[in-house]
Amino acid sequence: MTDEFLTSREVREAAGYVRGQTGHHPQVGIILGSGLSPVAQEVKDSDTIPYPEIPHFPVTTIEGHAGQLVIGQLAGQDVVLIQGRTHYYEGYPAQRITLPVRVVQRLGIHTLFVTNSAGGLNSDFRPGDLMLITDHINLGGMAGLNPLRGPNLDELGPRFPDMSQAYDPALQAMARSVAGRMGFTLREGVYVYLAGPSFETPAEIRFLRAIGGDAVGMSTAPEVTVARHGGTRVMGISGITNIAITDPTPEKQTTHEEVLETGKIIVPRLTELIKGVLAELPPV
Ligand code: HPA
Repeated sequence: MTDEFLTSREVREAAGYVRGQTGHHPQVGIILGSGLSPVAQEVKDSDTIPYPEIPHFPVTTIEGHAGQLVIGQLAGQDVVLIQGRTHYYEGYPAQRITLPVRVVQRLGIHTLFVTNSAGGLNSDFRPGDLMLITDHINLGGMAGLNPLRGPNLDELGPRFPDMSQAYDPALQAMARSVAGRMGFTLREGVYVYLAGPSFETPAEIRFLRAIGGDAVGMSTAPEVTVARHGGTRVMGISGITNIAITDPTPEKQTTHEEVLETGKIIVPRLTELIKGVLAELPPV
């Protein structure tokens, strides 16, 4: 296992390698969560870089996560897709799983779209819904798994970054108007980050609801924390793949297969929503 903390040199070397593999100059980064990889099929004129080729990059071990950067054109913007992410539960230190965010920041992005598959806590939600993330509860971070723990790299951001508007209000407004035009209900709410990999017990679900969570998952908050540390603006979308179980029966279980299956239903709408917002992004 590599060191817990990233160095500026590692970020520089990884970004330098990626820059040498593409002629594009991406302005927007997009992280694709479990089962959401097919969004990348829409990218035109793409260069694909598998994670194992990139110096210091953490390699994904999970089914449903492709493990490559896809750089090209989507809805008129130069984008870099992080197609498949690593998670804390795979055994990487909290800071290592966020190296891809540091690298795309160094490539020059100003905006990051973060997507994930999540369990619905809000009783109005149904599998297949999309939820605009308005805020998060970084339970992992509050318990010590914050990716900014350790020496602060001052050239990347401040020791104590503000998180009061982690999810950019203007981007949220754009997502609402694109969904309205597309004619579907975009749910909204608070995403709770847990380290995983076990799904939640019914008592944990009741607790997460009581503290204000609408959806629960095992990613996103570390990446968004690092994005904000570096001054990148963020839009977050959860695909609700299953409803968290509070009245267990022997037949009812949450499985990774269910998460991937519902992901297939979510992909077409998510793709249109992302393209819709990209098409409206003002130049920065
Ligand atoms: N819990 C945690 N993470 C998840 C879930 C869930 O129910 N569904 C998809 N990711």
